Amino acid sequence: MHKTLLLYHSGYGHTRKIVERIRARLVEKGVDAHAAPLDDENLEPAEYDRIVLGASIRNGKHKQPVHAFIERHRQLLEQRPSGFFSVNLVARKPGKNTPETNPYVKAFIEKCPWKPDLVGVFAGNLDYQRYSFMDRNIIRFIMWLTRGPTDPQTNREFTDWDEVDRFADAIAGLGERSRAA
Ligand SMILES: Cc1cc2nc3c(=O)[nH]c(=O)nc-3n(C[C@H](O)[C@H](O)[C@H](O)COP(=O)(O)O)c2cc1C
Repeated sequence: MHKTLLLYHSGYGHTRKIVERIRARLVEKGVDAHAAPLDDENLEPAEYDRIVLGASIRNGKHKQPVHAFIERHRQLLEQRPSGFFSVNLVARKPGKNTPETNPYVKAFIEKCPWKPDLVGVFAGNLDYQRYSFMDRNIIRFIMWLTRGPTDPQTNREFTDWDEVDRFADAIAGLGERSRAA
């Protein structure tokens, strides 16, 4: 059985929520799946057969620890069947909700030395009341620019959970072909 590691880097917990959904779906399918934050010091990624990394966008970028992790574990990531997904609010828009059309994912794939076998993108959530004063204002400005909700009481999940489940199913199939060959 494949041991699957689902890593996340999450600011306000939404990427973690997506990873938990993926983990639950994999476990349902009989996959040995483990979820952990990227900075878990007890983690030994080499012990896993498949590695998937999820990270959210903050102010136009995946945060520095995401790039540092990829740099540090690049060889391992290239040796294992692997996946990456990004969570951001631009992905709520039709036409920007696939790895081929989402600007953050396109830039990531173009620049990143690691080429994951599976790439996904999911729309995140918007919960103004949970953000710090500064973050709330940054996001309201981004929403204003992109014609999204600016009402500070907005609490909305844009994530397409069926799409997340399909991504989980694709993870379950990762590496199966090479193993069968
Ligand atoms: C401070 C801040 C900055 C953000 N910047 C962007 C951005 O530049 N582009 C975007 O599409 N989404 C942006 N988002 C939206 C997040 O990517 C989205 O809310 C996601 O669900 C956050 O997931 P997390 O809780 O796992 O960090 C931002 C969110 C916050 C709180």
